Amino acid sequence: MARKPDYKRLVRFARSAQKRSLAPYSRFHVGAALLAADGTIHSGCNVENSSYSLTICAERTALFKAVSEGKRKFKAIAIVSDDEGFTSPCGACRQVILDLAGDIDVVLADRKGNLRVHTMKDLLPHPFTAEDLRRYQRKKR
Ligand code: THU
Repeated sequence: MARKPDYKRLVRFARSAQKRSLAPYSRFHVGAALLAADGTIHSGCNVENSSYSLTICAERTALFKAVSEGKRKFKAIAIVSDDEGFTSPCGACRQVILDLAGDIDVVLADRKGNLRVHTMKDLLPHPFTAEDLRRYQRKKR
């Protein structure tokens, strides 16, 4: 049986990425760490913009960094902030994570280090996926 990934270690990577968060507008500093299937870890932080809507979340930073490094298969993503509770990925990130990484584990850690683990399918039920587009385009041909 495959060994369960070390989620506490993944959270530590998310915490160090959080230190690099650039969030002068919200002051809500987020870190994420993505575990690829080959065991490599790709971290990211939120990067805000004076034109607010151009801000990118920590989760998408991590995922786009990994994809641009050639990674295509993933196992889990950890997310941390300084909020007292758990920080869940926003709707836009849920779509992007499910689309690019599939039904991976989403590991949320609070400030005390308590973990809560969800699956992407739990966080985004009834998703729109690449398969919907493929099916539609097959029919149209
Ligand atoms: N943010 C993330 O980076 N990830 C989340 O899961 C929630 C929100 C960022 C976006 C923005 O920079 C700040 O947190 C406030 O929304």
